[in-house]
Parts: sequence; structure tokens; C-alpha cells
Amino acid sequence: MKTYAIVLAAGKGTRMKTELPKCAFPILKKPMIEYIIENVERSNIDETVLVVGHKKEIFEDMLADRVVFAYQHEQLGTGHAAQMTESYLKGKQGNTIILLGDMPLISDKVIDKILVKHEESNNDLTVVTTNFDNPKGYGRIVRDQYGKIASIVEQNDCNHEQKQIKEVNTGIYVVNNTVLFDVLPKITMNPRKKEYYLTDIVELMKPSYKIGTFVMRDSFRVMGVNDLFAISVAEKYMREEINKMHMLNGVSIVNPETVTIGHNVTIEPAVTIQPNTTITGKSIIKKDAVIGPNTEIHNSVIYEKVTVKHSLVYDSTVNERSMIGPFAHLRNNAIIGKGNRIGNFVEVKKSSTGENTKAAHLAYIGDTTTGKNVNFGCGSVTVNYDGVTKHQTVIGDDVFIGCNTNLIAPIKIEDHVFIAAGSTVTKDVPKGALAIARNQQINKEDYVKHLIKPKKD
Ligand code: UD1
Ligand code: CA
Repeated sequence: MKTYAIVLAAGKGTRMKTELPKCAFPILKKPMIEYIIENVERSNIDETVLVVGHKKEIFEDMLADRVVFAYQHEQLGTGHAAQMTESYLKGKQGNTIILLGDMPLISDKVIDKILVKHEESNNDLTVVTTNFDNPKGYGRIVRDQYGKIASIVEQNDCNHEQKQIKEVNTGIYVVNNTVLFDVLPKITMNPRKKEYYLTDIVELMKPSYKIGTFVMRDSFRVMGVNDLFAISVAEKYMREEINKMHMLNGVSIVNPETVTIGHNVTIEPAVTIQPNTTITGKSIIKKDAVIGPNTEIHNSVIYEKVTVKHSLVYDSTVNERSMIGPFAHLRNNAIIGKGNRIGNFVEVKKSSTGENTKAAHLAYIGDTTTGKNVNFGCGSVTVNYDGVTKHQTVIGDDVFIGCNTNLIAPIKIEDHVFIAAGSTVTKDVPKGALAIARNQQINKEDYVKHLIKPKKD
């Protein structure tokens, strides 16, 4: 028997007060919906239909080929949203799990457990519930005198007594697929909110079907993210869980509450992470590297024994033993060779460096290929942009670039070149040459007295 998933993500997320639709809002730099879809993909679900509506293109771009899209053009509630999957799922045999796009802490293990429980209980509908000390905002689970679920009442429709109920609807349901599409059209509009509530399926199915509940103990896993404060709460849970996993795996994290590591980051044992550090995207940190303090790394690979401190590294690679920082900025496919030293206000963009190259202070290296043993003096700049186009600089091995040098690209500096400090180099420099490209100094002897006249009394 097949298992289907419906994920509801068509809503705007008005309570977020942001331009982005809620389910696309990033947590640890990854859109919320991706967390749910990744876990759905890892679980025992065969086919997933994602319901989108508000700014649907964002989801289509993000998840093309991974899900089937259903469209809810007008956001008329969760019941209406589920119904929009009819043309994909109606008539199919099996069970369907319905998930909300705003529960980023859900895990594949939990999803599979819920599915097993549903089948073992022979239910037609399993409602997943949990208990919150502060249940405000969630639909409450109303049980009858036998303890069986009778209905779900939304916060705003609750009477005083119902508001005291701590057991809430998580928004996850498993339902026999045939029954689901019999029941969905029977949902009527909630007169107060003018929406079709999916929660109504409980009362609609109750007379003729077997309904059970699955009570989740880890309530944080099913928290619904409705506003920016909830984003920060979800992020905190994620951070703690991820950091703990890395620490148990042999990564030393100093002051972990200030360290943020994304889900798709790989860190080898014997790495040290110093405070105020963020590592996100598909980053890989190899053993014996020391990252931080005050460092951001995104989508980058850091090899063995590298140190990166007080620096930003985006979409770049740093090879073994290099020292990055303080205050370096590597971006847009900077590939730093082994044993380099890049720091103190140095930016490297779309460039590669060979082994043992140094740019230790105040330099810009952009659109450049650099060989090994090159020294960029303080203040050297590869002048890559003429206002219209970016141009390439090619530098050979064993080159010494004096302080305050401009290399006007396109330009080629061959091996063993020495460039005098203060040069503005516009022509290629051949192998072994000394290039001096600056005005000659004139010393006017005994001249200062003509400039500074003694004051008369
Ligand atoms: C919903 C449940 C509530 C439950 C809570 C759990 C209903 C009526 N209420 O409330 O019982 O306790 O989740 O977190 O179901 N969506 C659409 N189309 C719509 C409306 C919503 O696709 O027309 C999507 C949203 O994008 C969101 C999800 O459904 O991902 C839930 O919607 P939301 O407005 O957050 O529901 P809650 O008020 O939190
Ligand atoms: Ca919600």
C-alpha cells in the first residue's frame, strides 16, 4: 500500500510581517519548507504533493522535481488547501499524511513512527497531538467522556473552559486516502474566519470511521512557526541539537550558545570552533582546523590545520595549513592554496593562489590566478574592473609585489618578478624582471627653507 504526503504551504504568513511567504523564510539560512521536504524524502513516503499559492514561484524554483505542486490560488483555509490536491491524489489507494509547511523541526523518524502507529491501530484517521504548557494559538483537542477525540477547536473559537486544555492539534494527520477525498468536500466555511478548516474532518469522520490520536512527547518537534519570534525559538532548538551532535562527534565548541551551524555542514572530529561563529550551507571543515572567533563560513571547504579568525568565507576553499584573518573576506570561489597567509583587511574574490602565498595586510585580489610563493605587499590591488568589464590578472611563482602596487588588468606577471613598491603596472612583466612603474623621486637640496618662511615678530 502506498503512502502519500500533502504539505500545506500556500499561506502568506501574515503574522510574520515579512515580504517572503512564511514557509520560504530561512532558518539557519535554509528556507523553512526545505526542512520539511528533506524529512519527508527521508521517510517512508512514496509521493508528495506540496500545496502552494502565495508567491508560488519561490517554491517552484526551490523544489522543482522534488515534489508535485498543487495550487491554491485563494487562501481559503487549511481544509480548502488540502482539497487542492484532489486531481493528483483522489482515487489512489493508501494512506495520506498531511503536514504543515510551518513545522521545521519535524523529523523523518517521527513521520515514520506516526505512519506505523496509524497502520497498527487500523485507524481511518490518526490526529497527531501534543501537550504545550502554553497552548495559545493552537487548536485544542476536545475529548469525550471516554477520552476519545471529539473535535478540534481553534483558539479563537474556544470557550473559557476549552482554552484551559493543554492538548493541542499539531496539524499532522494520517488519513485513509479514499476517505479523505470523500470528507474534504463536506467541510463548510467557518463563519467567523471565513475559512475552511481541515480540523473539521474529525467531527465529519467521527460517526462512521475509526479515529485515534498519536500523542507526541517531544512537543518542540511539532511547534508551528507563525511569527519572527517563533523563528528564533525554532532556530535555538536546531542550534542546540546540531551543536550537541557535533560535540559528541569530537568537535570542540567554545561557548556553544554563540555558535550556529547549519544542517548541511560536515565537521570532522578534532576541529575547534571558537565563539560567535556561524557555519552554514554545504560547508565542510576538515580535522584540526580552528574556526573563529567571530567568523562566518558559508558553502565553503576548509581543509586540515587551517585557522580562520574574525573573517568571512563565502563559496570558497581554503587548503591545508593556511591562516585566514583577522579580518579577511574570501568570496565567490576564492581558492586559497596550502600554507597561505591572508589577513588584516584582505579581500579575495574569484581568484586562486598557489602554495605559500601571502597577502597579510590591506590587499584586494580579484579575478586573479596566482602562483606559489607570491608576496602581496601591504596595499596591493589587482585593478580588475574598468567600470564596464572585469579583467583577469595572472601572476606566476615567486613574485614579490611591493607595497601600494596597482596591477591594472588584464595583465600577466611572470615567474620571479619583483615589482617596486608604489608601482602602477599596466604592461605585462617578463620572467625575472624588476618592474618599476612610478615617478622618479626628485630631491631638491636645501629647498625647505623656501617653503617654510620664518615668522616675523
Ligand atoms: C493550524 C491548525 C491548528 C493547529 C496548528 C498547528 C487549522 C484550521 N488550524 O493553525 O489547529 O494547532 O496549525 O501548528 O488547520 N495554509 C495553506 N492555505 C491556507 C491556509 C494555510 O496552505 O489557506 C498553510 C500555511 O501556509 C501553513 C499551514 O497551512 O503552512 C498552517 O496554516 P496556519 O495559518 O499557520 O495555521 P494555524 O493558525 O497555525
Ligand atoms: Ca501555523
